Amino acid sequence: MGLSFYAVKAFLKHWLVNEERHSIQSPLAFEIYNGLLNYSKNAVDKDLDLEEFRHLLLKDDQVLEIEDFGAGSKKLKTNTRIASDITKFSTSTRKFSQLYQYFCSITPAEKVLELGTCVGINARYLSREVKGDLYSFEGAEALFQKAQENNPPKNIHYVLGQIQDTLPSILSENGQVDFVLIDATHTYKGTKAYFELILPYLGATSIVAIADIHWSREMNKAWEEIKSHPNISISMDFYECGILIFKKGIAKNHYVLHY
Ligand SMILES: C[S@@+](CC[C@H](N)C(=O)[O-])C[C@H]1O[C@@H](n2cnc3c(N)ncnc32)[C@H](O)[C@@H]1O
Repeated sequence: MGLSFYAVKAFLKHWLVNEERHSIQSPLAFEIYNGLLNYSKNAVDKDLDLEEFRHLLLKDDQVLEIEDFGAGSKKLKTNTRIASDITKFSTSTRKFSQLYQYFCSITPAEKVLELGTCVGINARYLSREVKGDLYSFEGAEALFQKAQENNPPKNIHYVLGQIQDTLPSILSENGQVDFVLIDATHTYKGTKAYFELILPYLGATSIVAIADIHWSREMNKAWEEIKSHPNISISMDFYECGILIFKKGIAKNHYVLHY
């Protein structure tokens, strides 16, 4: 996603207030954050085949007709888009795909959801840590097709359709969800609506990640409200995304962290 003036301001604020690892008071938050830094250090040579997949997409000049369901792209203005541009501007970096992998790996990872498949890079990263099923949701048919080229992993179920229509039945068929990445409609309304739909299916061991929490004023508002929910014990702001932890019986804490 491109950076707006608002996002730049939010980045500077994040940079000024982020905490040192050793200033984290909560033992659980310290353990989780330390685990992330170690995971990322040890993942330097991991999943390099997925970077080859990204590389193929970055050279892919296929023209795709995309229905825009989100808040649009600040870089891509038309509905006719080139696969390589979508890959460049609308997918997570390797660093953040690994962050999502880590948070998924510290849950039971039996039922995992990704809202917003796009060309499917993150879904493939997540699939490496999923022990059961991963449901990845996409509304644009051309992207739904593109994500499934080049031998998609068997544990990913690609779901086509608008998330507000497709998510409720997948949730009711599967029961508790362990890890959810919300990376679809980057609006206040969309983000809040997805969180409300998922909430009844989250347990004490579940983790939710929300991408692009400071991308716009309305995403920031959605993040501020969601992280205040009483069921959330620890929230972590990594600027590009926010993490929500639901473990019961510990004091509520919010951390702004560097990654
Ligand atoms: C930022 S991209 C996801 C990137 C992906 N998670 C990755 O990093 O590999 C967001 C995707 O969500 C899809 N999307 C947005 N709103 C949607 C909706 N209401 N229903 C279905 N898909 C939606 C868009 O078409 C787009 O492909």
